[in-house]
Amino acid sequence: MGTIRQSATRTFGILTAGGDCPGLNAAIRGVCRAAYDRYDMNIVGIADGYRGLIDENWRILRPTDVYGILTRGGTILGASREKPFKHQGNEYEIADKVSAIKENYRKLNLDCLVVLGGNGTNTTGYLLSQEGLNVVGLPKTIDNDIVGTDRTFGFHSALAIGTEAIDRLHSTAQSHSRVIVIELMGHKAGWLALYAGVAGGGDVILIPEIPYDIKVIGRHLHGRASSGKNFSIVVVAEGALSVEESKMEKKERKKYREQTVVPTIGYRIAREIEEETDMETRATVLGYVQRGGIPSASDRVLATSLGTAAADLLARGEYGKMVALVGDSITAVDLSVPAGKVKSVPQNHYMLDTAMAVGTCLGQ
Ligand code: F6P
Repeated sequence: MGTIRQSATRTFGILTAGGDCPGLNAAIRGVCRAAYDRYDMNIVGIADGYRGLIDENWRILRPTDVYGILTRGGTILGASREKPFKHQGNEYEIADKVSAIKENYRKLNLDCLVVLGGNGTNTTGYLLSQEGLNVVGLPKTIDNDIVGTDRTFGFHSALAIGTEAIDRLHSTAQSHSRVIVIELMGHKAGWLALYAGVAGGGDVILIPEIPYDIKVIGRHLHGRASSGKNFSIVVVAEGALSVEESKMEKKERKKYREQTVVPTIGYRIAREIEEETDMETRATVLGYVQRGGIPSASDRVLATSLGTAAADLLARGEYGKMVALVGDSITAVDLSVPAGKVKSVPQNHYMLDTAMAVGTCLGQ
């Protein structure tokens, strides 16, 4: 144990919000260990994301609470998709929720609120900082779609799970001479499908950023068949959409998808492929397996580094920021940087060219 250093923050609250992901506990441990050991701070663990701060559901976190959690999946704090600045059809009004959060922040004598989450969580953090609270954010999500950081923790673990699933589908697709569609998470951004697709050698990869033309996919699959390949693997992000859909107005697209994305986009694309090619096609949706279980070594390292960096921000009193990985450095960006945005795969991203260079069809 080194000597205790000076800290601008005496007491902070910590919460995890949005969908969970591997690495959340590693990040909680990173923040808390550094906050206790280096700065002797007091920590309040808030349950179930922002909901706990509305419903007064919290507990004092002691050093023993974060023992042994580095490798554990999920979050010891619980999570929810509560968005206090959004009407979610429950009994609470926005103004009531926000004032409850502000009141409880003061009641707990917090100097800062540390929020671990994705776009929604960091956007809420930013809005709360505009309301006068001190907030520090950490970027987590398997989707890797937060502006301001090169990578989010959770992504690497989900990539490994997605890749293993694609590897496993190869042998059964080959045995049965089938096309197999695998749907991975990613409503708005296709990072996970693109990376897992390249890592697993997907023959077609469809992401929301590149609307697909089923005729192009059909030609590609026929081309593979005529070159002697008896199976194909099609990797689909859950937000994948056709060229026709991309041209629709938002409302019209929503309606169209409600009618055709049944039960999910992976199944729809499997049907479209079968109709277009006459090839036997199956769909697999990987679902929540992608978010569960132990974090990869890489996510443990990133989550720990971001966590300890967040404790350093607290000690320096640098509030209103989100810790981030930029290049090979851990740094921090203003919370306004990620707020209200989604980091999509840019059309000129090198990975798109990599995929095409190894013969993968991107649907266009
Ligand atoms: O955490 C982000 C994410 O994994 C998205 O890719 C997915 O669309 C979403 O969560 C689904 O999660 P839930 O069903 O928990 O809202």
